[in-house]
Amino acid sequence: MIIGSISENKEIEKRIAITPEIAKKYTSNGFEVFIEKNFGLHLGIEDENFIQQGCKIDTKENISKKADIFLQLNLPEKSCFQDFKENSILIGSFNSNKNIEIINQIKTNKISIFSLELLPRITRAQSMDILSSQANLAGYKAVLDSFAAFKKAIPMMMTAAGTISAAKVLVVGAGVAGLQAIATAKRMGAIVFATDVRIASKEQVESLGGKFLVVEGSENLETEGGYAKETSDDFKKKQEDLLADTLKKIDIVICTALIPGKTAPKIINENMIKNMQPGSIIYDLAASQGGNAAHTKVDEIIEKNGITIIGESTILNKLPTSASNLYAKNLFNFVLNLYDKNENKININMEDEIINKTLVK
Ligand code: NAI
Repeated sequence: MIIGSISENKEIEKRIAITPEIAKKYTSNGFEVFIEKNFGLHLGIEDENFIQQGCKIDTKENISKKADIFLQLNLPEKSCFQDFKENSILIGSFNSNKNIEIINQIKTNKISIFSLELLPRITRAQSMDILSSQANLAGYKAVLDSFAAFKKAIPMMMTAAGTISAAKVLVVGAGVAGLQAIATAKRMGAIVFATDVRIASKEQVESLGGKFLVVEGSENLETEGGYAKETSDDFKKKQEDLLADTLKKIDIVICTALIPGKTAPKIINENMIKNMQPGSIIYDLAASQGGNAAHTKVDEIIEKNGITIIGESTILNKLPTSASNLYAKNLFNFVLNLYDKNENKININMEDEIINKTLVK
């Protein structure tokens, strides 16, 4: 069984799908692993580090022709996938609801595609959960970046020259990214507020030392799968009133609110931004899905009446080594679940919820 990974376009993707540590796990489980020359060099990982773990270096063309399992971040280019063997398997994070055309082209060559953003959020799938592993890092980095852009100190400091008050942070959306943002901001001495439409998140926010802002009289807007539902106009109005008041005293807003398959809910409107204090920062991690804040532009920094609005879409490229370590481990656990060691073959068992839900049909 041959595992291959083709180098990503490094202009847009700095992460890698196989690290030396994980390559060793594949080879010790009987897989052969092929990667391209300089596969991890941009992360400071020499080919020799991979070779020491049993990997082989080959060309893109040869890997495309011989691998049984391709491990990627993004969809490969046509010049590669047209060479893929029949019945080979492609695993990655392919935004499968959007990239339908190219996915269909790949599937016509009898290649099975597994896209891990479709993974069910069940306990057994946690070790494969790329959404959680990557969102956790994104939440952490969003705090570091927004604090770096903020022109004041974060923790309260009492000095002979006077007192600096602690910065106030609002985290919008307390899912995986939001909870890590709360934890990170608290550790750095900020006073942290958070809001979410899922009532379950209240306890989680409070356990991290955050203050949960409850939209009074609201129902719990959580789906069976643990995701958020779209809010009613009544809820939106109540949330707006609550946040409009709170935002006047907030220094940094970290936006992470998402609804799967939909554009991100607009939560911070123009009026709220007008009333914020000059020097405040809005860091919008939901930018690529439309953004939670008015004025957000993907990968741009906008200034509005002294407020800086940062629309970030490639934050994982800012900590690609940590992101790769976790992503590669998630993929390894996914491959092991697909692999029948006794028969030395991939078993696409549609009775397995993890396999069934991630297979792009
Ligand atoms: P996500 O990335 O889809 O959304 C982020 C957050 O935004 C969510 O908490 C969501 O409720 C919130 N949100 C959406 N619309 C909002 C609005 N209008 N106002 C305020 N907040 C809004 O969610 P994520 O981070 O992927 O987590 C989704 C769920 O999956 C959570 O319930 C989490 O606990 C669960 N989960 C379960 C795991 C498991 O294995 N059991 C592993 C990881 C996550």
